[in-house]
Amino acid sequence: MLHFVTFSIFLIQKKESKIDQFLTDDYTLNIINFIYGRNLKLTPIKSQKTFLGHPRGLATLFFTEMWERFSYYGMRAILLFYMFYSVTEGGLGFSKATAASIMSIYGALVYLTSVFGGFMSDRLWGSRKTVLIGGILIMLGHIVLATPYGKAALFISIILITFGTGMLKPNVSEMVGSLYDKDDYRREAGFNIFVFGINVGAFIAPIIVGYIGQTYNFHIGFSLAAIGMIFGLVQYSMDGKLYLSPDSMFPNDPLEPEEVRGLIKKGIAWIIGIVLICVIMIEFNLFNIDNVILVLSVLSIVIPIYYFAVMLTSQKVTVSERKRVVAYLPLFLAAIVFWIIEEQGSVILAIFAEEQTKLTVFGHSFPASWFQSMNPLFIMLYVPCFAWLWSKLKNHQPSSAIKFSLGLFFAGISFLWMMFPGVLYGTHTKVSPLWLVMSWALVIIGEMLISPIGLSTTTKLAPQTFRSQMMSMWFLTDAVAQAINSQIVKFYNQTTEIHYFGIIGGVTIILGLILLMIAPKIKRLAMSA
Ligand code: GLN
Ligand code: ALA
Repeated sequence: MLHFVTFSIFLIQKKESKIDQFLTDDYTLNIINFIYGRNLKLTPIKSQKTFLGHPRGLATLFFTEMWERFSYYGMRAILLFYMFYSVTEGGLGFSKATAASIMSIYGALVYLTSVFGGFMSDRLWGSRKTVLIGGILIMLGHIVLATPYGKAALFISIILITFGTGMLKPNVSEMVGSLYDKDDYRREAGFNIFVFGINVGAFIAPIIVGYIGQTYNFHIGFSLAAIGMIFGLVQYSMDGKLYLSPDSMFPNDPLEPEEVRGLIKKGIAWIIGIVLICVIMIEFNLFNIDNVILVLSVLSIVIPIYYFAVMLTSQKVTVSERKRVVAYLPLFLAAIVFWIIEEQGSVILAIFAEEQTKLTVFGHSFPASWFQSMNPLFIMLYVPCFAWLWSKLKNHQPSSAIKFSLGLFFAGISFLWMMFPGVLYGTHTKVSPLWLVMSWALVIIGEMLISPIGLSTTTKLAPQTFRSQMMSMWFLTDAVAQAINSQIVKFYNQTTEIHYFGIIGGVTIILGLILLMIAPKIKRLAMSA
């Protein structure tokens, strides 16, 4: 009876994840299911197992995301080369500028669709199912790329992987958060372990997929990415049943029947809008890759502006919440500037690796795609150092704005650093791989100061009504950055190289300084209750 009462209270409070702590017999569960019309299953005692002192579900999500990132970063490590290598070399023969621009807009769309993924899970399917469907789409996307159907396969694959990742990524991260109660002291450490998983996947992928893809055949490389995602999916479906909270099977805020109509109307309006834009472009002979990218990048920038406008004007947002949104705005912009540099690692630095870097160590040659392992490698090296630093500083930590401005400083320096090879040796000789390694060593210090802090600040400063969409909001910083990149990476070539790195690096540092100056003001606004 006590079980029954406790459980009912949890059910009313929508805390179904707690069932396993209180309910251990099927009999009571059947009564509950009968009364509440649910189909909850008894989570086996196994769920009380732990993983490194954390809920066992963390391991499930760790490996799911590790494999998903393996497939994503493995694919990206060779995609750029696949696009601009000539057809005789097994590539698609795009110009370098177009290939770079596609890489960036693709990256933008992948994060932009997190808004869609958040919606699907929140209102329709719940996270568990949304992640599964997302993973299946991603797997299909890589399989399509593995086929020899050239450009058509590329574009279909981009659509599949874009929507798939939008459904999988924000919801996996969200499920990590929901493994812990709000004030569980293990929460932050849990996210650190999860980030580590992301980077384990991102680290090994370029080594394996890059090597096979660049030395043997791009399509075999893409099939390895597909296989990685299959491992992730198998693991997720087998393990998820046992260790993920039953909560994740239901949408947080299920769609009401009367809302469906409005939504269908909205959907149709979107489709008509897209068709209309395409028709106009075709009519005026403007339908080409560059212009499609331009339209998509404008869209990626307009969506977050719209979001902010809604948040700042919504009746449901209180005065103090609004102040916090205003405080968040400069941080949001700073994060965009940071990702502009960070995300060029897989585009501009990848081109630099391929064309201007000696690809040998100790007499052994290696493919340019291996450089893509540098970013996750440094993250893995730095995570423990920063965890130590923050715990040491405890309450004396600098504010988020100060951390962000330092992050911008390191990102800027990493680009200024890349001016030196050109200045010292000219832009037509090949230089030591250490130049690139050092550039990543610098920018990733910035990532440690921005990425994890940004995520937690985003959730802290979010108005109550928008809380569940905040994970996507954070991914939008990366989307906007890559949308901007899709327009600027085109200007990079060996002639412009020194100015390119200099201007972007310099502007970033100046913006970092401005942020530093307004940091106290941001802190005051953010603290306003
Ligand atoms: N590189 C990280 C990932 O792949 C972070 C991405 C982001 O926060 N925009 O998950
Ligand atoms: N730096 C990329 C992301 O964390 C790989 O993590």
